Amino acid sequence: MPKTVKVADVTELQPGEGKTVDVEGVSLALFNVDGTYFAIANTCTHVGGSLGEGALIGKEVTCPLHGAQFDATSGKVLGGPARNDVKSFPVSLEGDDVFIELE
Ligand code: FES
Repeated sequence: MPKTVKVADVTELQPGEGKTVDVEGVSLALFNVDGTYFAIANTCTHVGGSLGEGALIGKEVTCPLHGAQFDATSGKVLGGPARNDVKSFPVSLEGDDVFIELE
């Protein structure tokens, strides 16, 4: 049964910004991509860089450690050295609250 958890207020991130959120022991990267919130696993599949601290340009986030790139809207890897995608998590809004659905 999926569990929905509030992780932010809708005003918290401006377009192009991201942050790390820890929810129930899961580390997530939350991004505002052109006004829409998306969440992916925070841990880079290369050697564990924090994607929530990476630079976001459009929908591409760059890992702060060695520069792998991921699609913040889907978790797909776009550029090495990482080779594997990260998981993405459904995001929903209710009023001013941003929720993430955990499994
Ligand atoms: S840990 Fe992310 S590119 Fe190396």
